[in-house]
Amino acid sequence: MNGKLNASRLALGLIKDGMTIGIGSGSTVEVFLNLLGERIRNEGIVVYGIPSSYQAMLSAIKNGIKIVDLLEMEPEICIDGADQVDSRLNCIKGGGAAMTREKIIAFASKKVVIIVDESKLSEKLTIHVPVEVLPFAYGFVLRELSKICKPSLREGKGKVGPIITDNGNFILDCDFGVLENPEEVENKLKTIPGVIETGIFPSKIIDAVIVGNKKGARVIDRKI
Ligand code: A5P
Repeated sequence: MNGKLNASRLALGLIKDGMTIGIGSGSTVEVFLNLLGERIRNEGIVVYGIPSSYQAMLSAIKNGIKIVDLLEMEPEICIDGADQVDSRLNCIKGGGAAMTREKIIAFASKKVVIIVDESKLSEKLTIHVPVEVLPFAYGFVLRELSKICKPSLREGKGKVGPIITDNGNFILDCDFGVLENPEEVENKLKTIPGVIETGIFPSKIIDAVIVGNKKGARVIDRKI
């Protein structure tokens, strides 16, 4: 928890009165939103937010952030978590099945800052890649994915059968082993009809990663 808190504290300094922010999802973003809520209450600042999930929306409203739409506002900064970050700042996201809207918001934002605790850092990306799939296309996409990885349908907890995303779709968690070239895999996945989005966030869309640990936090800026 300290890592998430310290990364969130450092990210908090990036938020200015009147800003529109893109809001990622997950437990680290939740910590960040709670801190931002304190600033909104104590300092009387106004922050507009575009949330990437129902979880983010509910937490943003609870913390006094004014919800807006991409049609009205362009986020100046997007704050989001990640499940794994490699040494070049490529990320895997979607552990909470929210990566489709997260990626739209990241692309729509002028700046993207990822907040993680130290445990998320890895030399290479190794964890399963979540892929959001239109339910109608499930059988076809499953066969196509099986040619290049080991896909498995994500099952619900507290619900029987597949989990359904905020967009009404399925998630296939895909085992590629070590991802040597994340952007190439991402491009390949996106050519399969029925694939809505993937959890690979190439480093080119990430401006910085804030890494927290028990003692504090540091910023890693993208170099290339
Ligand atoms: C949501 O689908 C994800 O992309 C999250 O951003 C990611 O799983 C990080 O979540 P935690 O902050 O809970 O680890």
